Amino acid sequence: MEKFFAPCPRGLSAPLAQELAALGAQNIKADDSGVAFEGELTDAYRANLHSRIASRILWQVAHFAYDNEHQIYDAVMLLPWPQRFDVTRTIKVEMNAQRSPLKSLDFTTLRIKDAVCDKFREVIGSRPSVATREPDVRIHAFLNATDATIYLDLSGEPLFKRGSREHTGVAPLKKNLAAGIIALSGWQPGEAFLDPMCGSGTFLVEAAEIALNIAPGSRRQFAFQKLKNFDSAAWSHMLTAARDAEKPKTLLPIYGSDLYGFALDDAHANLLANGLGDCVRLKQANMLEISAPEETGVMVTNPPYGERLGETTELTELYPKLGDLLKQKFSGWRAYFFTGDTALPKGVRLSASKKTPLFNGKIECRLYEYKIIAGSNRRDGAPPVSATPGASASPAAPVVPTLKS
Ligand SMILES: C[S@@+](CC[C@H](N)C(=O)[O-])C[C@H]1O[C@@H](n2cnc3c(N)ncnc32)[C@H](O)[C@@H]1O
Repeated sequence: MEKFFAPCPRGLSAPLAQELAALGAQNIKADDSGVAFEGELTDAYRANLHSRIASRILWQVAHFAYDNEHQIYDAVMLLPWPQRFDVTRTIKVEMNAQRSPLKSLDFTTLRIKDAVCDKFREVIGSRPSVATREPDVRIHAFLNATDATIYLDLSGEPLFKRGSREHTGVAPLKKNLAAGIIALSGWQPGEAFLDPMCGSGTFLVEAAEIALNIAPGSRRQFAFQKLKNFDSAAWSHMLTAARDAEKPKTLLPIYGSDLYGFALDDAHANLLANGLGDCVRLKQANMLEISAPEETGVMVTNPPYGERLGETTELTELYPKLGDLLKQKFSGWRAYFFTGDTALPKGVRLSASKKTPLFNGKIECRLYEYKIIAGSNRRDGAPPVSATPGASASPAAPVVPTLKS
């Protein structure tokens, strides 16, 4: 069995671990920065093809204790690099370190590159070239206080790049972060899904692909295809199976809206670029004026955030209205707001049933969950339902929907 590591946005290791387990990964261990797992190389192909949450899949090729750069050079020089990839492939070495005692990480990165090149020279008499942009082979080194781990990157371009042309709006979310948020919401295909501040439509594309069982990596290339041990028969078998499992494109109960036409143009272009133009319903609307498109469902949205969008004042006015909207028009729904603005929970004046810390790059954010229980404002005349202990279920009760905390 081989060892792998799948980094992911901070806060998403738990849903990533579940996703990898469902893909057959073994000996899974999650930490803050991602998930370690074991399996065959084909399991790592499968993770590249199907994981929505991982940022990349790294194959561990060495792990050793170190005190200085010379030991790292010697250990890397011992590895069989010419058996891994052809000398015509370009390379790049990337480094991450936590509490490393080494003085210069840049120098250590250079020494790792030297060791790879010197190994090639020793074995075949020539060395690979370095490419800082779009290298064929990425070598990642991770140093902690005592140990070095060397990885070959099996993904290449990060996995949140799914291969389609992207029309990015003002503050688009990375696709793997969006997918992780959807996983945390517990939304299941078949339930209504709504993003009323959809921007360039990142959540909508992810939800539609999940509903149609479209593997996120089925339309892109991977770095493992450039390695000498690439098992192209196993890969094409896996890819064909993934494509065969896709559901026919159809109109889905997935709804997106945004205040601005230009944002909807981006969302529409992104849906089209992913072949999902006829699957999602888009409309231009002020979030504060919309109604629930179905009786129950899941709202997942990423409101404008002052620090990124310079809209702090408007936000203080938006939040209480958002809370009112949920109470008045979204009973029976679950709502998930992803934001870095800690003023949101106070502003919406509802008690969140869950707050999950997550990072959007370096910005610390939270995913706030609001479960809006059907109250006495039901439109169908059915007896009202309340989940709050002690709340009256009498039709004569005041028209105040109850919120589960
Ligand atoms: C942070 S962006 C969402 C980005 C989106 N998640 C993406 O990945 O592209 C917030 C969006 O909210 C929209 N917005 C702001 N105020 C709104 C309102 N009152 N009603 C609807 N949309 C609004 C903005 O136009 C913007 O597209």
